[in-house]
Amino acid sequence: MARFTLPRDLYHGKGAMEALKTFQGKRAMICVGGGSMKKFGFLDKAIAYLQEAGMEVKVYEGIEPDPSVETVMKGAQAMLEFQPDWIVAMGGGSPIDAAKAMWIKYEYPDITFEDMCKVFGLPQLRKKAKFCAISSTSGTATEVTAFSIITDYAKGIKYPIADFEITPDVAIVDPELAETMPKKLVAHTGMDAMTHAIEAYVSTANCNYTDPLAIFAIKMIEADLVKSYNGDMAARDAMHDAQCLAGMAFSNALLGIVHSMAHKTGAAFADYGAHIIHGAANAMYLPKVIAFNAKDPTALKRYGQIADYMEICDKNAPDTEKVKALIAYLRKMNDDLNIPHCIKNYGADSYPCEQGFVPEKVFLERLHDIAVNAIGDACTGSNPRQPSVEEMEKLLKCCYYDTEVDF
Ligand SMILES: NC(=O)c1ccc[n+]([C@@H]2O[C@H](COP(=O)([O-])OP(=O)(O)OC[C@H]3O[C@@H](n4cnc5c(N)ncnc54)[C@H](O)[C@@H]3O)[C@@H](O)[C@H]2O)c1
Ligand SMILES: [Zn+2]
Repeated sequence: MARFTLPRDLYHGKGAMEALKTFQGKRAMICVGGGSMKKFGFLDKAIAYLQEAGMEVKVYEGIEPDPSVETVMKGAQAMLEFQPDWIVAMGGGSPIDAAKAMWIKYEYPDITFEDMCKVFGLPQLRKKAKFCAISSTSGTATEVTAFSIITDYAKGIKYPIADFEITPDVAIVDPELAETMPKKLVAHTGMDAMTHAIEAYVSTANCNYTDPLAIFAIKMIEADLVKSYNGDMAARDAMHDAQCLAGMAFSNALLGIVHSMAHKTGAAFADYGAHIIHGAANAMYLPKVIAFNAKDPTALKRYGQIADYMEICDKNAPDTEKVKALIAYLRKMNDDLNIPHCIKNYGADSYPCEQGFVPEKVFLERLHDIAVNAIGDACTGSNPRQPSVEEMEKLLKCCYYDTEVDF
């Protein structure tokens, strides 16, 4: 038996935020990040709509990018004081993910972070509040997913919380919110979405319900991401839908080791002054992982289907040629989006440069631990090929030096 779970309601299209007016409840807590929602007037709009619905509204502000365990605990405390019956999280993946984890702690104040991370092991939520997510970036699709990514900074590791209990009740996918994204954010979140769709399509948990969402998202992202990056607002709006479709797919088909590696490298070099931003990490690792996974016959065939659907290779060519075309296409996308091909060339500002912020020596010193952690990541189980620690180390080295994956 398999399960396919999505939010009960999904409001999409320009002006979809107005749906907030129809919510029923007494108290709504809006959770937001560092200020973009306020600056562009979306926060005020949300407050007004919820007040129109007759609710008392409180705003929880200042959730940082890549939110920490401490932020989650603090936010849960604020929820315990205010007792909301609606949690409305607005912004990118960071505030929405943090709010999901706060929600768990609000419903179960005694739960530890460790308990939250037990995959598909959460107790029943919605005894105190329902959850609405309004996304302002076009990538994570956390508005429709069963995931929340929280960083333990003491360990330098991102932990995915995974359970259909945290799939939001309502998702609002209003493209107006995505129109204010700076270019770099468009690039990173867009490649995150591409990675979600491709990993979901080749995941061992893919099925007839997830495939159409994944493959159509890939086609849309192929058509719209670079255009959106270059300022085409119709393409920007389409990307907001595309990333959500990819999210519906991966929330149910799960992901693969591109994400395992991104989760375990993202904050691993924070002491050298920067993060490897989630979407950029995915964009760099995806072509390498495709080459590695393509040694599995089922994955090879499915990458071939992706290339066929993208129309980037002769349909009669062997699957191995189609995989090469797919890898070349994704690398070209990275070039068009100003994303480096490897960690060695990843600058502290995320742009390509000769010598990036992660020194070779430090990378090699930490390589073994990162490989072990990546294998232990919740996304590894559904990858089409299970790497050994040694293979994971080799793969990560290819991601550092941008060398060919031939194993
Ligand atoms: N839950 C999931 O299923 C899932 C999936 C993938 C990634 N993630 C996680 O999500 C996080 C990344 O989220 P993200 O990529 O959406 O970025 P983010 O939420 O970290 O936001 C990045 C920056 O962009 C700004 N911003 C957001 N929307 C904006 C807009 N419309 N206009 C202008 N500025 C805006 C924010 O203020 C912030 O400074 C990571 O922690 C990642 O691990 C979660
Ligand atoms: Zn992702």
